[in-house]
Amino acid sequence: MPRLGFGVYQNYTTHESVLEAFRAGYRHIDTAQAYRNEAHVGSAVRESGLERNDVFITTKCISKTHGYDKTLRAVDVSLERLAVEYVDLFLIHDPFKGTELRLQTYRALLDAQRAGKIRSVGVSNFGIKHLEEIRAAGLQTPSVNQIELHPFCQQKPIVAYCREHGIIVQAYSPLIRGKMDHPLFMELANKHEREPAQILLRWSLQHGFMPLPKSATPARIQSNARLYDFSLNEEDMRRLDALDQGKAGAVTWNPVDVE
Ligand SMILES: NC(=O)c1ccc[n+]([C@@H]2O[C@H](COP(=O)([O-])OP(=O)(O)OC[C@H]3O[C@@H](n4cnc5c(N)ncnc54)[C@H](OP(=O)(O)O)[C@@H]3O)[C@@H](O)[C@H]2O)c1
Repeated sequence: MPRLGFGVYQNYTTHESVLEAFRAGYRHIDTAQAYRNEAHVGSAVRESGLERNDVFITTKCISKTHGYDKTLRAVDVSLERLAVEYVDLFLIHDPFKGTELRLQTYRALLDAQRAGKIRSVGVSNFGIKHLEEIRAAGLQTPSVNQIELHPFCQQKPIVAYCREHGIIVQAYSPLIRGKMDHPLFMELANKHEREPAQILLRWSLQHGFMPLPKSATPARIQSNARLYDFSLNEEDMRRLDALDQGKAGAVTWNPVDVE
């Protein structure tokens, strides 16, 4: 899985943006049924001329489609919309609707994986309680947990759990939905002669997360991918780490605590 992904939530020019992302070097696209743009992701993959094997596609099903049969149908719907034979990673988008439906949904994704429609099965917005349910049911560990992660919202207990159990942590909203006006981001951007967005993405990569920045702006799509010619030192990382506000720092729904 390429460590940097390209998020397409609320991107109203997804086809063009994904093509720009491919030109910038991204090979990992993060979509979802709820974003209503799987078809645009699929059309961009085809127009790009890239081999299917060279592109990593993630999609997700929301709680409306939870339950065994509904989830199997949801997988087929995503494959049709994307017009691909498999998705690389399929996530349960959120943990709403309770234990029974979560486990049914997860079992359906494992069966879709056995059928070759999904390469890896993961979850999103799962707290420790939800991850423990999967373990207690004796089911395969999810490959990925995709959660909100940036310096203001570090979700340390969930990250520690994921590390302990070999679950890859993907960081959504890594640019704090564009709210990057904190003086420390500006100071570090000036120091490294980079943009605040690049500072946040380096922070995420250096913590071992897989960030999924979104942009519909071609110049930002390009600059958000230029991350490998500088690094933050220990002091930079420590100061960014100190901004953690726990759950109060979240800027999205972040439903990791639902029953
Ligand atoms: N699993 C989940 O529940 C969940 C929830 C939220 C997000 N996600 C995933 O994570 C992805 C990213 O999260 P997000 O979309 O919430 O927010 P984000 O990536 O943190 O921030 C996107 C915002 O930052 C702006 N931006 C991008 N690059 C910038 C730059 N270099 N300088 C200044 N502003 C910049 C964008 O504006 P422009 O587009 O105008 O450039 C947009 O307003 C989503 O697209 C989605 O794939 C998943």
